[in-house]
Amino acid sequence: MKRAVCPGSFDPITYGHLDVIERASGLFDEVIVAVLVNRTKASLFNVAERIEMITEVTAKYKNVKVDSWSGLLVDFCSEHKVSAIVKGLRAVSDFDYELQMAQMNLQLKEVDTLFMATTPAYSFLSSSLVKEIATYGGDVSAHLPKTVLDLMQTRLAKIKSSSNNDHNEDGKAGR
Ligand code: PNS
Repeated sequence: MKRAVCPGSFDPITYGHLDVIERASGLFDEVIVAVLVNRTKASLFNVAERIEMITEVTAKYKNVKVDSWSGLLVDFCSEHKVSAIVKGLRAVSDFDYELQMAQMNLQLKEVDTLFMATTPAYSFLSSSLVKEIATYGGDVSAHLPKTVLDLMQTRLAKIKSSSNNDHNEDGKAGR
């Protein structure tokens, strides 16, 4: 069985991720979407929440599974007998870092990485930008499945209201 992994932070999953997952599911017998920790990014959702969202929006792809891993991606690949890592490439700006990781993963455990050019409509799309725009009230409904959008808006509203409360508390304390 040819098994691929689509790894990422998925915080949260966007239509750009789903584009790559769907196309990879047509090329491999099985695709595992693996939620991994990116130590350079702060997260909005915890890993269990991200898994739940991804499971829901990938349910229609019968050969797609969802999992998480807290160590090296290459160790996940050995453990799950993964033949290839599939990563989406949005633009040339992704290439430097992705190539570095691909070559490091090859050197570490001889795991191959295949780069999939994203559908042009998603070339500007990232979870980070979506979160930033949504934080300031911008419309990101075209970039995320509705269930994910609703959960993100609820989470951002909760964060906003608790930060407003903190400010109010600070104000009172100062008087
Ligand atoms: O969606 P992201 O944040 O661009 O995904 C990056 C991710 C999570 C795939 C990458 O940070 C990763 O592979 N992390 C797992 C730890 C690891 O293997 N690091 C060494 C990479 S060479």
